[in-house]
Amino acid sequence: MTEPELIVHFTAADAARDLRADVRAGLTGRPKWLTPKWLYDARGSELFERITGLPEYYQTRAEQRILRDRAIEIAELTGAGALVELGSGSSEKTRLLLDALRKTGTLREFVPLDVSESALRSAVAAIAADYPELRVRGVVGDFTAELAAVPAGRGRLVAFLGGTIGNFAPAERSRFLTAVRAALRPGEGLLLGTDLVKDPARLVRAYDDAAGVTAEFDRNVLRVLNRELGADFEPEAFEHVARWDQEQEWIEMRLRASRPMRVRVAGLDLIADFDAGEEIRTEISAKFRRSRVEAELAAAGFALTRWWLDDGEDFALSLATAV
Ligand code: SAH
Ligand code: AVI
Repeated sequence: MTEPELIVHFTAADAARDLRADVRAGLTGRPKWLTPKWLYDARGSELFERITGLPEYYQTRAEQRILRDRAIEIAELTGAGALVELGSGSSEKTRLLLDALRKTGTLREFVPLDVSESALRSAVAAIAADYPELRVRGVVGDFTAELAAVPAGRGRLVAFLGGTIGNFAPAERSRFLTAVRAALRPGEGLLLGTDLVKDPARLVRAYDDAAGVTAEFDRNVLRVLNRELGADFEPEAFEHVARWDQEQEWIEMRLRASRPMRVRVAGLDLIADFDAGEEIRTEISAKFRRSRVEAELAAAGFALTRWWLDDGEDFALSLATAV
């Protein structure tokens, strides 16, 4: 087995600098907001893994089924020599792609990139052990800034799974897709997972599960701010809220102050006052229709080659080619 590599592009100092800037902007904004990137410390990554197994959170299972049915076709269509996975987390579903590319025999290298060093470290170790013929190169990085880390070469396939593209605001999404396209050569591929617009009640349940795991995931961001910035949030004094925005076609996760509160963020020398019921937006999760995915891919310089759905038509996997 070739020893796995871990390249740290996003150091603790980078994280500290970005966190400070984001939190200052977000907590002084109206309404208040935080960037979802900070949900994923080690505990947040573990909570997300628990979310993927919840009965209400259908996305992961739906995407897994599409991958199970289509992985060989993806391998044959792309003939990928390098698989680059953005926001890879545990890379569990990605094994279906690795297995298929192993069967078709083209893959040499796997490059997972994630901001969560703990999740990436365990994924890289597990994949390297199970796929000893592959060069495994993990990159700790921010996928909005580090696409230069996509290795040079030909025959690359970039995978962005799980519906994580929905966590960008529309303008960020367009910047992101344009940057992915710029990192690729014509003919190379993008495999994109998108959750689809559906019954709002089901969507709200997926983001506000009965066991309260998503609520704990959401509140975890306050624990991150307490630890990293010396803030004195009382996470339990914030109620988790999931709301469907019909106009934007996205779910918003919010944390609602249960009473008036004054929070001190010592590391920023900042005071944030909350009225009772005031909310912080912690994440958006956009839901898509085919027309939007196709148009946004085209605007970024990709042609949609395949559009696959699970049987329940809950989730879509798109294969796009850089033109
Ligand atoms: N792809 C996996 C994990 C999705 S969870 C799946 O489909 O199940 C979202 C992942 O993106 C997490 O692992 C999180 O750490 C990572 N992430 C979130 N924001 C990021 C950013 N700005 N840059 C890089 N990774 C990020
Ligand atoms: C990672 N991302 C696609 C998840 C989502 O569904 O938007 C994060 C998540 N938030 C709450 N539950 C899961």
